[in-house]
Amino acid sequence: MKLGFASLVILLALLAGCSGKAGSIPGVLLTATSAPSPQGEVTIMTTVSPSPTPTGKSLRELAPRRGLAIGAAVDVSTLRSDPVYAQILAQEFNMLTAENALKFGPLRPSRDSYDFSAADTLVQFAQDHDMQVRGHTLVWHNQLPDWLTQGTFSREELSAILKEHILTVVGHYRGKIAAWDVVNEAVGDNGQMRDTLWLRGIGPEYLDLAFQWAHEADPQAKLFYNDYNGEGLGSKSDAIYRLLKELLQRGVPVDGVGLQMHLTLDAPPRAADIAANIQRLGELGLEVHITEMDVRIKTPASPADLAKQAEIYRSVLGACLGSPYCKAFVLWGFSDRYSWIPGFFKGYDSALIFDEAFAPKPAYQAMKDELADH
Ligand code: XIL
Repeated sequence: MKLGFASLVILLALLAGCSGKAGSIPGVLLTATSAPSPQGEVTIMTTVSPSPTPTGKSLRELAPRRGLAIGAAVDVSTLRSDPVYAQILAQEFNMLTAENALKFGPLRPSRDSYDFSAADTLVQFAQDHDMQVRGHTLVWHNQLPDWLTQGTFSREELSAILKEHILTVVGHYRGKIAAWDVVNEAVGDNGQMRDTLWLRGIGPEYLDLAFQWAHEADPQAKLFYNDYNGEGLGSKSDAIYRLLKELLQRGVPVDGVGLQMHLTLDAPPRAADIAANIQRLGELGLEVHITEMDVRIKTPASPADLAKQAEIYRSVLGACLGSPYCKAFVLWGFSDRYSWIPGFFKGYDSALIFDEAFAPKPAYQAMKDELADH
């Protein structure tokens, strides 16, 4: 993480124990060291001693022994402003996803400019802390810039725009982003191809083209199709399975599938169904990542709700650990202090594994037990 001198002073003051907005992490000792980078900026390396929990190990110490990468989505402005957030990330996770910074809109303020500043900060933080990055996402129907959604483009123009975008963005991070969500949510809730700017403007072959361009730009990166509500068994997961099978039959370079896993307490998919779905996707030759897990709760969350939530985290993690095809388990954030849930699902909150004060919740302990337990 690169910071100017003023922010360095503030950060060190916070780490030294001055009371900051974020407070302190229970049971965690924070220390920071700084070293000048070749550019004259200061690189912050965070080191965190493990919290004294029953097993004494963080998620990222436990997960690799089970062949699993463990990750969280990151909001870059919070990463820059909240040192406790940065510390827990570095302590608990070895994989990061950009919550927004790599989406089309944030990256492309205008047709002929790219703003890589936020995503570069995230990738640098990941490198400084020995973490992998998942790139999210190249082709989606949401968070597109106005110049794109309000413009009028021929099929050739739109596919040239998408091609240039993918070649430039994937090329910029060539060798630095391990896995890309190339296409996000292309299947509608009815199981048909979702009606999007890309489908209307280019045709269904936009998927094949996007994967081919991404492969051209970084042949080493693993290329994923990512979607929601297709985690267990059912008509949408069947439609996603068929789409992936057809892509592979046409020789499209798809390496994996992301199961988002935005769940509620009431109707989570059955662990056996998730396991069966992972198995059939794996048998197609695909790697499976859980990419965006959270379990939202109607406010206010009771202790019983938190226990139920912990059990859902545990069982989904168990389904992933039970399969040789499931290689990464990524949460959509990690603390209820910073989560997209209250803004998107009215009356819901508490979806993550640390609470608003960064104290570990029962779900955190359940994940650790599941990782340690086999
Ligand atoms: C969400 C972010 O969390 C929000 O900050 C943003 O305003 C909207 O998008 N599925 C996805 C993610 O693939 O990109 C979405 O992220 C959550 C649902």
